[in-house]
Amino acid sequence: MKVFNKRRVSRKDVEEYKLIGDGKDGEVYQLTHDKCVKIFFLEETQKKELEALKIGQSSPIIPRLYEYGENYIVMEYIHGISLARHLKREQKITEELAEEILIMLNELKKIGFTRWDTEVRHVLISEKGQLKVIDHKRAFTSNSKVPVKLLKGFEKFGLAQNFLNHVKNIQPSIYKKWMYYR
Ligand SMILES: Nc1ncnc2c1ncn2[C@@H]1O[C@H](COP(=O)(O)OP(=O)(O)O)[C@@H](O)[C@H]1O
Ligand SMILES: [Mg+2]
Repeated sequence: MKVFNKRRVSRKDVEEYKLIGDGKDGEVYQLTHDKCVKIFFLEETQKKELEALKIGQSSPIIPRLYEYGENYIVMEYIHGISLARHLKREQKITEELAEEILIMLNELKKIGFTRWDTEVRHVLISEKGQLKVIDHKRAFTSNSKVPVKLLKGFEKFGLAQNFLNHVKNIQPSIYKKWMYYR
């Protein structure tokens, strides 16, 4: 069942819904328990994110895609907190979480995104403890060998070395490539 079923969505169409995210490229409103809409300021950005979401539908770490028009995308609303908030709260990265993060990064590569270096605020930990990645407008426009943005995000909480120590245990070969990320 489509929510809007129109080419463009205006502020008026969403005035009854709760604004849950107010970013540089759009506004996100929660529509139902498990759906939200991202309204884009530029159609160009919508196109990029839509392409990435479509390709990402093969993966459980990408929100489900439900409906879209020229300036909006209706997608799965992920219940949970961002990795950034989690780290701020917990002040540590467990080995289990480090493993999940490595699986997530691997999954982004598997999907074919050239940008698999996501940011801590764009990783959401669902209620079931699964990692989900949002904001994919740059999925195909940036490229890096080492997840520098993610590691810098960990660094802000003083947790980069904590994470890298786990990586050393789990996959020493990756550790060797990432240890000099700065
Ligand atoms: N699918 C989603 N489920 C839950 N929250 C979301 C979802 N998409 C976006 N958000 C919330 O909205 C905020 C802004 O979304 P984002 O895609 O990063 O927008 P922008 O492209 O403007 O940066 C996110 O930081 C997050 O809090
Ligand atoms: Mg964003």
